[in-house]
Amino acid sequence: MSISIIAQSIAESATLKLNEKAALLRAKGEPIIHLGGGEPKTAAPVDAIIHAVANLNSGETRYTPADGTPEMKQAVIRYTEEFYDRKVEPENIIVSGGAKQAIMVALQTILNPQDEVIFPAPYWVSYTEMVKLCGAVPVPVYAEDGTFYPRMKDIEDHVTSYTKCIIINSPNNPTGAFYSEEFIAEIVEYCEKKGFYLIMDDIYHRLLFDGKRPVNCYKYAKDLTENSKLIVINGVSKQYAMTGYRIGWAVAAKRLIVPMTNIQAHQTSGPSVVLQKAAVGAINGVQSSVESLRRTLENNRNVMMQELNGFDGVHATKPDGTFYCFADFRYYTKLHKMNSKQLADFILEKVRVAVVPGIEFGMEGYFRLSTCGSVKDITEGIKRIKWALDPNSPNELYIGQRKLVRDWV
Ligand SMILES: Cc1ncc(COP(=O)(O)O)c(C=O)c1O
Repeated sequence: MSISIIAQSIAESATLKLNEKAALLRAKGEPIIHLGGGEPKTAAPVDAIIHAVANLNSGETRYTPADGTPEMKQAVIRYTEEFYDRKVEPENIIVSGGAKQAIMVALQTILNPQDEVIFPAPYWVSYTEMVKLCGAVPVPVYAEDGTFYPRMKDIEDHVTSYTKCIIINSPNNPTGAFYSEEFIAEIVEYCEKKGFYLIMDDIYHRLLFDGKRPVNCYKYAKDLTENSKLIVINGVSKQYAMTGYRIGWAVAAKRLIVPMTNIQAHQTSGPSVVLQKAAVGAINGVQSSVESLRRTLENNRNVMMQELNGFDGVHATKPDGTFYCFADFRYYTKLHKMNSKQLADFILEKVRVAVVPGIEFGMEGYFRLSTCGSVKDITEGIKRIKWALDPNSPNELYIGQRKLVRDWV
């Protein structure tokens, strides 16, 4: 059977695969702790549910416009005014099946084969594969100083005559790193100067800790006319705990939104009418659930840091936001002579804790540990991992009634 070259080049989604694996084991009654997830466990805002139910009761079941319903676009206009202090028009907006689709149609709109797309590493697993789906080339950039905070110089060093676009995700999945206002200002100005597209993936921008406030990229854009190559991405998945509702959007110049809409029209048509209604409810409704989620995540981040600080050999940079912590387990990958994938499999097999291997995000020897579950998930999960990896651990561990005995060094 012949499979296209592009299809052959696309890896499965490590994070979605892990979710499936964890769910299967849990269904079999295994005491799984999922520290690999990328979705809040809190309830969606009640306004979202009310809107969705009202739509179901109304009997409205038809296609929506390919770029989103007028009502949803009005909600995005309001959102953009509130969080970016920027007044946009409906023609500046496309509503998609999640932020993922909004990014995908943006890339399909701007990239030609062999174009290069730069983004800081470690990076969200999908950036590399989405760029490859366009026949283009992903160019991850590692901070020269070994931190999760690249400098402008690191980015500039990777620019070639093929560079077409830069993607910035702040706060970042998988590190939780929130880039400084100066860095965002420099990136925006640099992209304008060089004529690069800039995709600001702001999907986590309201989930910041320690009093940090989101950086508004528009503040630094000199050209906000139809020539602007700035594309801002957002969605309801993370901030409103509505990952399964699959609604995201992009705000950009009208001349970009038109081809993005044409592509989306042939790919999937407009997003579901029910789910756009729910998103309108979430965006326009009471916002207390976002702050409550943010506070819970900040507390969970603190618990995670405390647990990792007491884990000899593990190093972790304190996340500034999101619900991830990207921890350095290189001491243990070396000790157990395994790569991060093998070590993650080992941990799942031995102590039933799911973590995502760092290599999926472009950094070997690390694990992405989620803090979107409960405090108990974090403390119990890290306790089990420590027991599995640290040779100085006691010989036995109880998981509920089940007694585990170490038969490895
Ligand atoms: C950095 C980043 N961007 C975009 C997305 C996609 O979000 P959505 O669920 O809206 O497609 C994710 C989801 O994990 C993400 O981590």
